[in-house]
Order: sequence, then C-alpha cells, then structure tokens
Amino acid sequence: MDGNGRWARQRGLPRIEGHRQGVQNVLRIVDAANDLDIKYLTLYAFSVENWQRPPDEVSALMHLLEIFLNQYTSKLIERKVRLHIIGDIEALPQFAQLPINNAVNATAHFTEHSLILALNYGARTEVLKAIQAYVADVQSGKADVDSLDWPTFAGYLTTKGIPDPDLIIRTSGENRLSNFLLLQSAYSEMYFSPVLWPDFGAEQLGEAVNAFAHRERRFGKTGEQIKQT
Ligand code: FPP
Repeated sequence: MDGNGRWARQRGLPRIEGHRQGVQNVLRIVDAANDLDIKYLTLYAFSVENWQRPPDEVSALMHLLEIFLNQYTSKLIERKVRLHIIGDIEALPQFAQLPINNAVNATAHFTEHSLILALNYGARTEVLKAIQAYVADVQSGKADVDSLDWPTFAGYLTTKGIPDPDLIIRTSGENRLSNFLLLQSAYSEMYFSPVLWPDFGAEQLGEAVNAFAHRERRFGKTGEQIKQT
C-alpha cells in the first residue's frame, strides 16, 4: 500500500493525511476483492523496517490501526471476512494489540474470505524465526532433518495454512518487494501500478486481476507443456 506520503504531499497536506486516506481505501479494496471472489487478500500495513520512520509517524500509524479495527471489525463480520495477522504483533503498543486480537477472535469462524494484515512483518525475520522453531523441533526429536521438504518448512512460516500469493500488487510506481513474502512469492505474478495507494480503487484492482488473467504461469515448465494441460 505504497504512496500515501506522496498523495498527501501533492495536496500540501501532512503525510499522516495520506495514511488516513490509505485506511479509508482498505475497506474499498476489501469490498472490491470480495466482489471479485478473491479468497485471500494480504495487505502490507507495517514492516519491521517501518519502525525507523519518524516517531510521530509511527505513533500515528499505530493509532490509525487501532481506529481502523475499532471502526471496521463489525464491517468485516458483516462481510464474513476472517482477519489473520502475519508478523510480530507483540511489539505493537497494547492499545493496538487489543482490537487486533478482538477482530481476529471475532472473525475466526469465517471460512470463505480472508484479510491478512502484515503488521511488524519482514520476510527475513520470518525466515529466521522459522529456522529457530524448526531447529528446536529437530533437537526435541519432533522433526527429522533428512525428511525436510518445502511443505514441512512452509509450516514453520507465519503464513502456515495460507496459500502462496498468485498476484502481488505494489502501488505508487516502486518496483521492489521490500522484504514482503520473499519465499511465498517464488512463483507469484508481479504487478506494479503507478497509482498511489489512496487512489487505487476497484477499477485499478480489476485491471490488475485482468492483467494477471493474461499471464502464462509456467512454474518451471515450457509454454508447450502448459498448453497441453
Ligand atoms: C507506504 O506509503 C505506506 C505505509 C508504510 C503504511 C501503510 C499503512 C496504511 C495504509 C495505514 C494502516 C493500515 C491499516 C490496515 C489500518 P508511504 O508512506 O511510504 O508513501 P510514500 O512512499 O509516498 O512516502
């Protein structure tokens, strides 16, 4: 969800106004994704690197998160959307953790559509934690190194049980992943949009999904092999 700061600057507003608009856009996109029957929508809301931003911006983002959850948990319930979190939320302020846990618990029984918020998330941190947990299981005899395969290791990642993303969209014209789902994106299609996140609406999401529908996903095979299946 990139480009909130630039959206605000272009209007002579403080950066936080851009984040406020960005939050408004989250529910628009949740609705648009539901309409397109997208089962899993992951939003990168706060990275482990984002703590390095000016303290007042970090604090404002945490308060926006709290406001978002307090205002929108009932809307997620209405829309039957399950909320998952990836990342370490224990490092977030208590006032943000409480509504997160409430929303996760209140939506835990929904099965059709999931909204996954990446909060204090970083792929490298995720991998290190997975290795630590895996090694502990090896040491206690619960896991066997010789039989380690990808599905087993993926079970140690914070995305356990969530399918790999088919499509990754980054808004605002930046062409990089910025420590987002680095292992899970091994075969994801990438879509980079010049539109700033507050302006990225249902129409733009539709264009991205349409572009995705025209991609040939080969997963290491040849184009001819794919056409035969
Ligand atoms: C990137 O834009 C955006 C972020 C680091 C924060 C995204 C967060 C929100 C939309 C609000 C919180 C989310 C939820 C779900 C409540 P930027 O600030 O880097 O933009 P810039 O590159 O134009 O400066």
